[in-house]
Amino acid sequence: MNEKKQLKIGGIIDGVGWNYMGWRHPDMPANASENIDYYVQKAKRLEEGKFDMIFLADVSHIGPMMIPHYLSMFEGVSILSALSMVTHSIGLTATIATSYADPFTVARQMASLDKISNGRAGWNAITSNPGGLANYSRTHLSKADLYPMKEEFIEIVEGLWDSYEDDAFIRDKKRGVFFDPQKMHALNYRGNYFSVDGPLNISRSRQGRPVIFQAGTSSDFMNIASKHAEGALVNGEDIEYAKAFSQELKRRVKLEGRSPNDFLIMPTQNPIVGRTEKEAEEKFQELQSLMPIYRIPKPTFFGSAEKVADQIQHWYEAGAMDLLLIRQEHPSGFDDFIDLVVPILQERGIFRKEYESNTLRGNLGLPYPKNRYSI
Ligand SMILES: Cc1cc2nc3c(=O)[nH]c(=O)nc-3n(C[C@H](O)[C@H](O)[C@H](O)COP(=O)(O)O)c2cc1C
Repeated sequence: MNEKKQLKIGGIIDGVGWNYMGWRHPDMPANASENIDYYVQKAKRLEEGKFDMIFLADVSHIGPMMIPHYLSMFEGVSILSALSMVTHSIGLTATIATSYADPFTVARQMASLDKISNGRAGWNAITSNPGGLANYSRTHLSKADLYPMKEEFIEIVEGLWDSYEDDAFIRDKKRGVFFDPQKMHALNYRGNYFSVDGPLNISRSRQGRPVIFQAGTSSDFMNIASKHAEGALVNGEDIEYAKAFSQELKRRVKLEGRSPNDFLIMPTQNPIVGRTEKEAEEKFQELQSLMPIYRIPKPTFFGSAEKVADQIQHWYEAGAMDLLLIRQEHPSGFDDFIDLVVPILQERGIFRKEYESNTLRGNLGLPYPKNRYSI
């Protein structure tokens, strides 16, 4: 069946905000980016809104001109592990750059998060920009290495996640049988950048393995994403761009023998919503007034809740968006969206009223990935 899935929604929690001024708003804790209570509150709110996932973006090198959020923030897997204990159904996606991390460690961390959260983990596997090379002792490499390295990295992580077949662990105390060694598989991967024997020492999770997302724009990006990703982020400024990106990426997904219906196009948006157009305008102006030297562009999704719901429906129906990934521009961004826009989308039957599942894969309607060694 090739039925179009309902719209999916994710919330990017960026602490004090993904702009220069949000931290100065009276309602924003100035230390929100490293404030566990703030993250817990937002995570619970997104779950009340029936969002598919909490999504954390990341940065691999900083300097004094960076946005305040990037200057002092939590590491993704650590904070998501904490959030997994206070949420039940919402997915938990961390961004980790393949250019700077180590594949065995990432496979282990993400699989652990997947087990801790009972099958709710996602990994946004990005190259990140080359600036990070200097932070991770990789100055002998250059930008040209990043995508070839990424492909090896993901092949290794996927391979390690199949180290054990689903039923490898018997744990029969009476018979004294802990596991079936026939169902444990080494990897023995030899690449140009990485060399990993395996196996990984953690069993598969309820959703098989974490969902893999990726973000990038180039043809090299698309080639790897079409083989290894289950969703791709796209800049959400322009619907025609997002549509063309979606068509081309899904074309490549199909060439890989996969179903384009099981690949999610995920534009990032920073909606500002009000009960009326005027209220949205006031919120926009309020933000601008916090730091007048920085001009922020008007968000693509802007205005009254009804208008924003129309815009969302248009993007969704036009094939430019399978999963809406929102970040808050204004400190009330998530609340406004959940209180005002979500009920309209639910009323129109575009978005769920209840979670279908309590795994990330289940809510996203993505197939269970069979272990490569299972018959
Ligand atoms: C929508 C989108 C989101 C991204 N998010 C991040 C991020 O959170 N952290 C980061 O370091 N790089 C991020 N990137 C940058 C990519 O990892 C990559 O370095 C960049 O797009 C260059 O690759 P390309 O030539 O394929 O576009 C993002 C890129 C896109 C398009």
